[in-house]
Amino acid sequence: MNVEVFTAKPTPMSRVIIIGSGIAGLFAALRLEKAGHEVIIITKQRPEDSSTNWAQGGIAGILDKTDGKAMEAHIADTLSCGDGLCDVEIVKCVVEEAGDRIRDLLSIGVNFEKDGNEFHLVKEGGHSARRILHAKDATGAEIERALNNAVSASDNITLRPHTLGVDLIQRVHGQPEKGIKGIWCLKLDSGEMESLAGDSVLIATGGCGQLWERTTNPSVASGDGLAMAVRAGAASKDMAFFQFHPTALMAGNSRPFLITEALRGEGGVLLDDEGLKSYRKLGSGPKNYSFTLQSSPDGSLATRDIVARSCDQRMKITGADNVWLITDHLSKDKLHSQFPNIESRLNQYGLSLARDPLPVAPAAHYMVGGLSVDINGRVLMDSGEVIPGLYGIGEVACTGMHGANRLASNSLLEAIVFANRAAEHFNSQTLDNIESVPSWRAEGMLELEEHAPLIRDLETLRKTMTDDVGIVRSFDRLERAKRMLALLTKEVDMIWNRSIPTRELVELRNLLLVATHITDDALARNENKGLHWNKDLI
Ligand code: SIN
Repeated sequence: MNVEVFTAKPTPMSRVIIIGSGIAGLFAALRLEKAGHEVIIITKQRPEDSSTNWAQGGIAGILDKTDGKAMEAHIADTLSCGDGLCDVEIVKCVVEEAGDRIRDLLSIGVNFEKDGNEFHLVKEGGHSARRILHAKDATGAEIERALNNAVSASDNITLRPHTLGVDLIQRVHGQPEKGIKGIWCLKLDSGEMESLAGDSVLIATGGCGQLWERTTNPSVASGDGLAMAVRAGAASKDMAFFQFHPTALMAGNSRPFLITEALRGEGGVLLDDEGLKSYRKLGSGPKNYSFTLQSSPDGSLATRDIVARSCDQRMKITGADNVWLITDHLSKDKLHSQFPNIESRLNQYGLSLARDPLPVAPAAHYMVGGLSVDINGRVLMDSGEVIPGLYGIGEVACTGMHGANRLASNSLLEAIVFANRAAEHFNSQTLDNIESVPSWRAEGMLELEEHAPLIRDLETLRKTMTDDVGIVRSFDRLERAKRMLALLTKEVDMIWNRSIPTRELVELRNLLLVATHITDDALARNENKGLHWNKDLI
């Protein structure tokens, strides 16, 4: 494979705008400022409000580059999980660059858990070996902490919170092939629109879990970056593959709380009501009573697509609202020390690890498809040509790494590898500096008087996606969703065309566009692969 290596040739005083403050955006910012560029990061809420911050499990990767066997195994597990649709060259590239990028994280100050002098490694579904570095059960928060500290210490990076990217500014209106020269954004504190000029824009806005009623994602995950890039001429890819995490806690009325797959890596087992009764009556370890064994010999630790589907099916058959995650056969000391955040959250509901069956159910978790990008994160059009000056990194991008299903803990890894590649690519360019950008089309726009219809439309959208574009699909249901999405889009477009943007309006417009891409891609598929499961195709 021809993996290009870029020599850093900084264009002095180039300005890069990064949208999003998760691992991909912050990592790229540090790379770009190191090469002498001015970086502006805009982020919708606070800097730490990102999916990265909520990531529990960890980051997969082999630190020892001479361990060919371990790297081969990581590649093989990723390909097998991706169900034949991964881009093999991309997978090799990411696995081979993992060690260097993880060392970058260490030098930025990320503290991964150690066992003596060695890193403590955990296992999750679909991994044939322990190869996941972690910071107890709050790996993402530790990475965010270190990256945000480094970003705050830099004079060349300005981080602007409460700033929502609305639309990209093309160099020549209507001609994506001519490139991007900035972004219009909404300052959420004042409600004003602002035009920001940049020699390049890096989209690192994460996913779109807010499309479903139950999600492990934070409220910022509304597909903004994907939608704005598509409106500016970008192609989306593999959108039908949306990953549902099998084990989100179903306790109290709170939003779904992720129970990391690493808990199943330590021996946690999924049971339904019947399985729980048998386990309690007959004992001898919960594993043998798991309904997941009907779907895979790997049982509760099969890949996420299989386990989530198996839970969904079980809940539909029995009518139960949840299945149970069993940990009472495992060491209390070990679980309490390795999963302190989960334990503390469980305690709020009177539950405890190594003692109680935990009520869990699948929840929308990760967008496997996304913006079509090349090996350097450059965003592509349908024609396969790049959109100059536009990069997509992290969850928003579809690099080909995950195929039809992402292997657990490969996402943080993919994010840093591609953040680095995009930054290095930018550093190797010589660009014309952008002088000025047009103002937002404000003339004739009115303040939005009522948000109530938007809130109802958002509820309808989420219900539609949950009922008709969930874990198990059918052509009828997908067609029904398509009709509903068309109707909602028409309504929201009418409001959009006459209103001054608000966060609710911008997000709903974006969510609708992303939902339409997911549904269209699902309708166009004539075979079941990985996360896309249409019962008419069985
Ligand atoms: C988890 O901790 O189970 C989630 C990690 C991931 O999504 O890769």
